[in-house]
Amino acid sequence: MAEEKKTIFSGMQPSGLITLGNYLGALRNWTQLQDEYNCLYCIVDLHAITVRQDPAKLRRASKEVLMQYIAAGLDPEKNIIYYQSHVPAHAELGWILNCFTYMGELSRMTQFKEKSQKHADNINAGLFTYPVLMAADILLYQTDLVPVGEDQRQHLEIARDIAGRFNNLYGDVFRIPEAYIGKVGARVMALQQPDKKMSKSDENKNNTVALLDEPAVILSKFKKAMTDSENEVRYDPEQKPGVSNLLNIYCAVTDKTIAEAEREFANSGYGNFKVAVGEAVVEKLEPIQKKVAELDKNKDYLDQIIAMNTERASAIAYKTLRKVQKKLGFVPRVR
Ligand code: TYM
Repeated sequence: MAEEKKTIFSGMQPSGLITLGNYLGALRNWTQLQDEYNCLYCIVDLHAITVRQDPAKLRRASKEVLMQYIAAGLDPEKNIIYYQSHVPAHAELGWILNCFTYMGELSRMTQFKEKSQKHADNINAGLFTYPVLMAADILLYQTDLVPVGEDQRQHLEIARDIAGRFNNLYGDVFRIPEAYIGKVGARVMALQQPDKKMSKSDENKNNTVALLDEPAVILSKFKKAMTDSENEVRYDPEQKPGVSNLLNIYCAVTDKTIAEAEREFANSGYGNFKVAVGEAVVEKLEPIQKKVAELDKNKDYLDQIIAMNTERASAIAYKTLRKVQKKLGFVPRVR
């Protein structure tokens, strides 16, 4: 018998426009894994409401994430692509795991600290238990690998801790997942403030490149990117964070090595370098944008994909949930 394929799970919040950071840190890697693994890619709308969302915008953003998953190259026949809120098992397991997670470990989460500073008027319990729901997402599918950007490493660690704790009490219920973090593009920084990560929710739009930004907008954002006063294209994240970020982005979209890129731009000033990076990004994103525009006209196709994949996801998720409920001592449902 052929060896069983390993399982991959990952997700993205529909809390704004997908950025180049999301693409290079996560989505691009996902497209390279679809043949080797059984993959589930979720649109995590339950997570998105930990920050206040406008309903119409959330609905549109969710559909856009779905279209961008497909347009970036995820085959919806091979990969299980679905909305988190369509599979209630996520919320059910999330609740159960809340009872196996400590306040202390949650209060150490960097993302919670950052988001509660940013949304000081809405530090809700969902924001605090966000990593528990994320653990539920992953553990429901007996996931082996979770491809994410560097910023999610801490959440992966807590998911592993929760799974291990549950297994210690009840036997082998959950597979313990591993993080899968790419070498290039795992941490794309903000274009004008290269000391912080590029983020969907950044108010300065010149800091982020959205996958669906018009080519002229992308170029202008790169032309305005922060560099330094040296005028030397060299990779040195400590001393030259802006230039190093641009080099990283360039290498991620062209598949060149840093050394090759440094050689290529050895004699060009920052002006030319920034234009070249912008053009390489535009070239990479244009086919994705065209595909999204096509998909946007095809509602029936998207509905059919979601219906089929929700069924597939639910079947796997409920198998794990039933096992958990049984272990805990819940009375089985009579059919
Ligand atoms: P989200 O929506 O913030 O980000 C989606 C993915 O993009 C990566 N990413 C980045 N990578 C490189 N550079 C950046 N500047 C950058 N910004 C974001 C993130 O690491 C992520 O992989 N908590 C998750 C969503 C989630 C999830 C899950 C992920 C919910 N449940 C289960 C994996 C498994 C998040 O906030 O993603």
